[in-house]
Amino acid sequence: MWQAEVRVDLDAIRDNVAMLRARTSAEVLVAVKADGYGHGLVPAGRAALAGGAAWLGVATLDEALALRRAGVEAPVLAWLLSPGLPLHEGVEAGIDLSAATTGLVDELVAAARRAGRPARVHLKLDTGLARGGAGVAEWPALLEAAAKAQAGGDLEAVGVWSHFACADEPGHESIDRQLAAFHEGLALAATYGITPRHRHIANSAATLTRPDTHFDLVRAGIAAYGLSPIAGETYGLRPAMTARARVTLAKRVPAGQGVSYGLTYTTSRETTLAVVPLGYGDGVPRHASSAGPVRVGGTTARIAGRVCMDQIVIDVGDEPVVAGDVATLFGPGDDGEPTADDWAAATGTINYEIVTRFGSSRVPRHYVGEAAR
Ligand SMILES: Cc1ncc(COP(=O)(O)O)c(C=O)c1O
Repeated sequence: MWQAEVRVDLDAIRDNVAMLRARTSAEVLVAVKADGYGHGLVPAGRAALAGGAAWLGVATLDEALALRRAGVEAPVLAWLLSPGLPLHEGVEAGIDLSAATTGLVDELVAAARRAGRPARVHLKLDTGLARGGAGVAEWPALLEAAAKAQAGGDLEAVGVWSHFACADEPGHESIDRQLAAFHEGLALAATYGITPRHRHIANSAATLTRPDTHFDLVRAGIAAYGLSPIAGETYGLRPAMTARARVTLAKRVPAGQGVSYGLTYTTSRETTLAVVPLGYGDGVPRHASSAGPVRVGGTTARIAGRVCMDQIVIDVGDEPVVAGDVATLFGPGDDGEPTADDWAAATGTINYEIVTRFGSSRVPRHYVGEAAR
């Protein structure tokens, strides 16, 4: 018996990845960083592999090592590395690591020597996002350092990669600009003898809308979890996560009753209030106060007043809601429940944040589907 649960449909993840695979001739990497966007690092990773992903991608070295500790043997790329990390552990574990500075190349050389095997490295070029990646001015020095380390046998430059800023806005002029910069970066890499097997720049949005950006590998995150990166389009994806809880208490209150901290919501008539045991301590954004939609009984109502740490209150009117009834915050939408997209719209954020907030929370995650076995 659960009081609240995050239900993850691993078959949905598997099938979404299979769909992405069918749309490209490139290999597919599924991003399982941030606890698999809230769906669970290892189960989401295994479901992605079952759907035909060849790679898993994570931000941190710790996430990559956790995959290996769980017995995942597939290629893993970790791309967010500060100086001073125990990179030899990543090299020993056969993890591909991203480098965007000559300093990191030096660290990787040292790590490779300590591990007794060459570091597999993906060199990152900043083609316009202005976040990670070597700037165009630093690219030649990075290539030179990598080529030298490769010649010395300490490093294999197996990848060159970049990341889009606006792929979720199809037609945005930056997409072509970044793509052209990526081609130039690859051409320059070749002059240093770096002709990597894995060239990659596409995220979910580019995977779905720009086949000319797929190169050898696409890196999909949000689409694998069944959510669209592009507003108004679903691409036949199936949302994998449902967040729901059993009403702890339902009671009649009179008109004019203020509800929850600050009494910011007032009942307009005699009504039933249902208390739902999920709050900001579980991943419900406090911004969802008086905004987040919840399905309970036969009705969908916005949260009445403020989101508390552990609970929210729903004004269900005259619906015959009783303690124990299931209240659904979001799910695939099959039974008329709101979706993560509805929550994103109601709270001024993106579907990525809604699902990711429910990762590693105190709410038990229950896995369903064939892929869960
Ligand atoms: C470097 C990198 N590649 C790929 C992805 C996947 O992006 P999306 O979830 O939009 O497919 C992310 C996620 O933000 C990322 O940081």
